[in-house]
Amino acid sequence: MGNTGRAIDRPEEYIVNVTPQWLPAWDDDEGARRATTLFRGRFGTEPDGVWSAPGRVNLIGEHTDYNGGLCLPINLPHRTYVALRRTGDGTGAGPSDAVVRLTSAQEADAELWSRPLADVGPGTVDGWPAYAAGVAWSLAADGHDVGGFDAAVDSCVPYGAGLSSSAALECAVAVALDEVFTLGLGGDDAGRARLAAACIRAENEIAGAPTGGMDQSSSLRARAGHALLLDTRDHTTRHVPFVLAPHGLALLVVDTRASHQLADGQYAARRTACEDAAAQLGVATLREIDPAGLDDALARLADGALPADVVRRRVRHVVTEIARVTELVGLLESGRIRDAGPVLDASHASLRDDYEVSSGELDLVVDSARAAGALGARMTGGGFGGSAIALVEVDQVDAVAGAVAEAFGLQRLTAPAFLVALASAPAGRTR
Ligand code: GLA
Repeated sequence: MGNTGRAIDRPEEYIVNVTPQWLPAWDDDEGARRATTLFRGRFGTEPDGVWSAPGRVNLIGEHTDYNGGLCLPINLPHRTYVALRRTGDGTGAGPSDAVVRLTSAQEADAELWSRPLADVGPGTVDGWPAYAAGVAWSLAADGHDVGGFDAAVDSCVPYGAGLSSSAALECAVAVALDEVFTLGLGGDDAGRARLAAACIRAENEIAGAPTGGMDQSSSLRARAGHALLLDTRDHTTRHVPFVLAPHGLALLVVDTRASHQLADGQYAARRTACEDAAAQLGVATLREIDPAGLDDALARLADGALPADVVRRRVRHVVTEIARVTELVGLLESGRIRDAGPVLDASHASLRDDYEVSSGELDLVVDSARAAGALGARMTGGGFGGSAIALVEVDQVDAVAGAVAEAFGLQRLTAPAFLVALASAPAGRTR
């Protein structure tokens, strides 16, 4: 009873869980073992191998990839593992007896998903199998000899957290199919760019999410210890060293656990607004707008499907965000990561105020992380929920995570989850 008085004085002490929940990454042994065990149990035979692909977190350059702009993702240590066995011949157009069978540890009670490859197409597949079967469809549509296969999937990429669990699945399947059907694409960057294009097409046309391609490019093309500077105008890349430990820093990723759904209308609406603005300005993409001429360009925008002031803010975000990517790359390449906080903060403000894709939970992560000493913080990925990143002193990781968890507890929000991102290896064969 001695606590009763304090509970009345400070009730939050009794509901706040300040112990951060961490999201561990599996090592390759564990991932391969899980996927192989699932495969044996569901298909009663051995897989040809296990392939895996990482989720990603974007450092900066948000909502720029469908505007011909720049972005700068790193791969996470968290990967999706696919044990896969080729069951039929690749015959180009895909015969009706080429069957795709899929199972996922994340859908433990579900029936085995099974479908002739010839029956996979836009609008024919719902849910997670669209991301896996869709890649086989788009590779076949691209003229590659892909036939039937069985696949078992297991993953430690946080699901629905804006950390590219979908792209991790697509890219793991892509490198697996590349190898078992000897497509010869996975061995060099040019081939990987083609695999990425197939994954993007699967996501756009089979899964129906109008995303821009950063996620798949990262998962297939970014290197360990590096961020990927991706120029989406021509899909050229540069590998920017990104190792924080020598600087005494760490990148904290916070999954708000607030619902986030890319196939919904908000993402598509932003994309349409950008395309309409580019058409009004007579340019192919917003990338063509010179930041020095931004005010003139904004002044030329008129009311259309959206009021002009809304379109102006959307355009201002995209043009200034592309410039911030260049700024951050400059800091990274000159060893000045400690000066990066304001660039991250400015990106968040732009996404919150001009692009309007943040959320109360994302703003809370950013504000509470900064108040607890983060050098800078921003939402990452598509927004509307999902995850945020914070650049923190390595010896303050626990304190900042604790402060964010406490801030969520005080507002009675679902507890967030945390991971520390190290720039990790791209998709490839694991076993
Ligand atoms: C999602 C999409 C990406 C990109 C980001 C926003 O992650 O999948 O293509 O548009 O949103 O930068």
